Amino acid sequence: MVAAEAAPLAKSGGLGDMVSSQSMALRRRGVDVSILLPGYECAFERVIAPTPLGYIRDLPGGDARLWRAAMPDSDVPVLLLQMDHLFAGRGSGLYQDECGRDYIDNFARFASLSAAAARIATGVRGVKRPRVVHAHDWHAGLTPLLMKLAGASARSVFTIHNLAFQGNYPLGLAPYAGIPSELLAPAPREPRSIEFYDTLSFMKAAIVHADRLTAVSERYAREILTPHFGNRMEGVLAAHAHKLTGIVNGIDDAQWNPLDDPALAQPYSHDDLAGKHACKKALQHSYGLRVDPFAPLVAIGSRLSAQKLADVVCEALPAALARWPRVQFVVLGQGDAAIEQTLRGLAAAWPGRLGLHIGYDEARAHRLHAGADILLHASRFEPCGLTQLYAMRYGTIPVASRVGGLADTIIDCPPRATNQATGFLFDGERASDLFHALGRAFDAFAQPQTWRVLQRNAMQRDSSWQTSAARYHELYLALTGVPGKPGAHAPRNLSAAAKSRRTSTAQRHRRALADVRRIA
Ligand code: ADP
Ligand code: GLC
Repeated sequence: MVAAEAAPLAKSGGLGDMVSSQSMALRRRGVDVSILLPGYECAFERVIAPTPLGYIRDLPGGDARLWRAAMPDSDVPVLLLQMDHLFAGRGSGLYQDECGRDYIDNFARFASLSAAAARIATGVRGVKRPRVVHAHDWHAGLTPLLMKLAGASARSVFTIHNLAFQGNYPLGLAPYAGIPSELLAPAPREPRSIEFYDTLSFMKAAIVHADRLTAVSERYAREILTPHFGNRMEGVLAAHAHKLTGIVNGIDDAQWNPLDDPALAQPYSHDDLAGKHACKKALQHSYGLRVDPFAPLVAIGSRLSAQKLADVVCEALPAALARWPRVQFVVLGQGDAAIEQTLRGLAAAWPGRLGLHIGYDEARAHRLHAGADILLHASRFEPCGLTQLYAMRYGTIPVASRVGGLADTIIDCPPRATNQATGFLFDGERASDLFHALGRAFDAFAQPQTWRVLQRNAMQRDSSWQTSAARYHELYLALTGVPGKPGAHAPRNLSAAAKSRRTSTAQRHRRALADVRRIA
């Protein structure tokens, strides 16, 4: 696996959870997975028994030292790419500084990650050569192309977690990643081109050059072929749709288990919810809400961004608080500064009714999902979404937008029947759409028997990795099943072109930084 995140070493959202839990699940199936991760300071602080393996020289951002280590509470080996000038001393943001600006050298940082993966695919001392390299999201997006250029025989898989982030950079940076100019020609002339609206696109490079593509839910895999969800990449994706499948994420059901969760006030299970009542009380108390076991308690826990419709949630909150006087909200999130500010204002205006914690806090997220009755999960688009899966496992009923993975994982509750229902889905992006959906949930909450059935359904949903890990495993087997000659998948002319482009790394890195600054 090649990724910019792997929890608990480095995480900014669901990508980190997915990469680690997917790797663990694949290891349980006997797949010999390791994760290649940037050597962030936070990752070095958290890994167990780091051992140096050697150097990988001449990456786009300079020389790197490769370390092997173990992940805490997991048997997945991790390879850390130590490049302190790129990954250390940056504060807590993996991609952005404290002011929310992308790091100016992100091109060099993630081109280096991809290039290191390609080097490992061709063989480096101390690391078993992989048969499949599975890259995640744009940060690792150059990997399949750089593997071809390096003449690697390993097959490549690329998973799209979020098409809204594409890693598009000035074309002039291509030489620093060893990308030949013929691959930047306009697409109709050059089908292997990674040019995208006058930029060099990591995401497009992955879509065009990976042997197989996956998206993190079946519905998202279909949605991204349309202009509404395609982020202008729908045409590129359509040309490669034959390689694309949707595989919904699972969760780490050991880490997210209400019966055995050290963060909770009291454990509980689907057939004894007494502990959940204690968790609700503790949550109300810790957010300064009135302790009321019968008040519907709605949680919102996510990045505060346009993707999560956080702007519209802010609009819907005052109307909901006014319309339903007993309802309480708790918000745990961080993100857009203006949205954070609006929420602070709302919390001040509705003391005892709206509790707020701005910040990122894992243990709080567990307590939020355990203590709430309802999770409000609005999204303009949602590739998979993990929080609704956590919420359901904790008996907290999601009220969510009917998009992407939310629609694939939540069974909508029809009027006057619960059947297999596990939550409430709604269409639309207006405050009134959220408001009506909440109303449906509150009506059901007022009927304890109905609510109990919903909780039982939700808690018994299988969100484990079992089925999805089997699908990834099949994909790997299908890719590697026919033994290929080493290098058989590498277009010879590309690898020759790459070799002729090796220049002094330090020089190249200095020039790349200067160019990025100039262009920025
Ligand atoms: P996305 O990756 O789009 O943000 P997901 O639902 O896939 O959405 O994953 C979000 C992950 O980040 C979950 O593990 C969620 O608990 C976590 N998370 C989001 N915001 C916070 C926060 N403020 N504090 C703690 N965990 C958070
Ligand atoms: C992205 C998506 C989210 C998904 C996560 C893990 O961050 O926004 O929907 O759950 O990746 O795949």
